[in-house]
Order: sequence, then structure tokens, then C-alpha cells
Amino acid sequence: MKIASFVGQKGGVGKSTLARLLAVAAARQEYKVLLADFDLEQLSCVEWSAVRLRNGIAPDIEARVFNSLKNLRKKVSNLDLVVVDTRGLADELTKEISQESDVVFLPTGTSMDDLRPTLALARKLSKSRKISSKIVLILSKVGRSERLLQTARDIIGEAGFEVLDNVWPERDGFQADLDIGKAGSEAHNPYLREAAAMIEADLLRLAIG
Ligand SMILES: Nc1ncnc2c1ncn2[C@@H]1O[C@H](COP(=O)(O)OP(=O)(O)OP(=O)(O)O)[C@@H](O)[C@H]1O
Ligand SMILES: [Mg+2]
Repeated sequence: MKIASFVGQKGGVGKSTLARLLAVAAARQEYKVLLADFDLEQLSCVEWSAVRLRNGIAPDIEARVFNSLKNLRKKVSNLDLVVVDTRGLADELTKEISQESDVVFLPTGTSMDDLRPTLALARKLSKSRKISSKIVLILSKVGRSERLLQTARDIIGEAGFEVLDNVWPERDGFQADLDIGKAGSEAHNPYLREAAAMIEADLLRLAIG
């Protein structure tokens, strides 16, 4: 069983949205996948999964709440992939989850205000991670400026971290689809679907190999 987690030091960077995108991608490839929601206050993934079921969107994505990884390991078996969504701050639980994950994704914006705390967290997590695990930054909810994207890539590279090839673009058009239980790859608009498909392939490759 592989564990892919989405963590961050800031709220609203796209953790839950990208976690759902990966879960849907894995389910479509017939992997047995569970969305593990560790955000007990917002329950974003559990709520989304219920809306998805209510709206009859296939495939069903099972989402469950957990408060520790030990608890998760006790309760689940027979899965190919667990996609973990965490709270909008990095606490002890985030550290524990990251330590046990095969890949840890850190979504971040391109500004220094976003990159600085994300890189600080990446450094902290890299000290205590499993040797075989990966820490990968994702440029998330980004605008169209190639220059800003390149600058952000350079800063991440200089800090010695990996960043996903494809980005998660900020587009208003995603919101209505996300709100009715879809993932970005299931968006109504074909251009949005295409953008989602590109980043989805990166996520899946890193999570399952
Ligand atoms: N590519 C996008 N374009 C436009 N809006 C987006 C995009 N991705 C996510 N959003 C919206 O941005 C908001 C925050 O996204 P999300 O909930 O995934 O972030 P989060 O990191 O999980 O936040 P939190 O830290 O509060 O859990 C949501 O309203 C979501 O619908
Ligand atoms: Mg969230």
C-alpha cells in the first residue's frame, strides 16, 4: 500500500483539490484507493465524496476521516493507494504522516510569501523522512506568467527540492465543477480538463510509479 500525502504550512493552497484529483485518477486506473481526510474541522474530502455520490459521479471515491496514521493502518487493508489530505497547517500529525508517506506533495504559490514557508517545511520534513520517500513541491493555483513560474522553479531548484513538471493553474471555471463533486479532470471545459490531465499524470506517476 502506497501513501501519498498533501501537506502545507498555509491554508487554501489546493491540498484537498489536488488530493481528490489524484484519488480520481487512481480509481479510474482501477487501483483500490482511499481518500484519508485528516482535516477533522473542514472534512473537505469526506463532504466532497458525499456530494459526488449524491450526484451520481463515477467512479465512487471512498473517503474516511482519521486522526492518526496508526489508526488508519489498523482499519484499512487491501488498498493500492491511500491519498492523505491534511489540515492547513503543519503540526506534529503532519510530520508523522509525512514520515510514513512514500511521497509528500507540498502545493505552493509562486510568491516568496508562499515559497518561503513551503521550503522551510520541506527542509524540516526532509530531515525526518524515510530514505525511500520523496518530497515534491507543486506550483498550485498559479497565474499565467511564465516568468513567475520560472523564477519559482529556480528558487525551488536552488533549495535542492523537486518540483512537479506540470502546474495546477488557477481558473475560475474549475470551481463550479469542484463544488458538485467533480475533480479537475472531470471539468466541463475541455481546456481545463486538459490542464488537469497533465498534472494528474505527474501525480499518479509519483504516487504509484
Ligand atoms: N485551480 C483552481 N482554480 C480556482 N480555484 C481553485 C483551484 N484549485 C482549488 N481552488 C479553490 O481554492 C480553494 C482552496 O482549495 P483547497 O480547499 O483545495 O485548498 P486547501 O489547501 O485544501 O485548503 P485548506 O488549507 O483550507 O484545507 C477552494 O475553494 C477550491 O475550490
Ligand atoms: Mg483542505
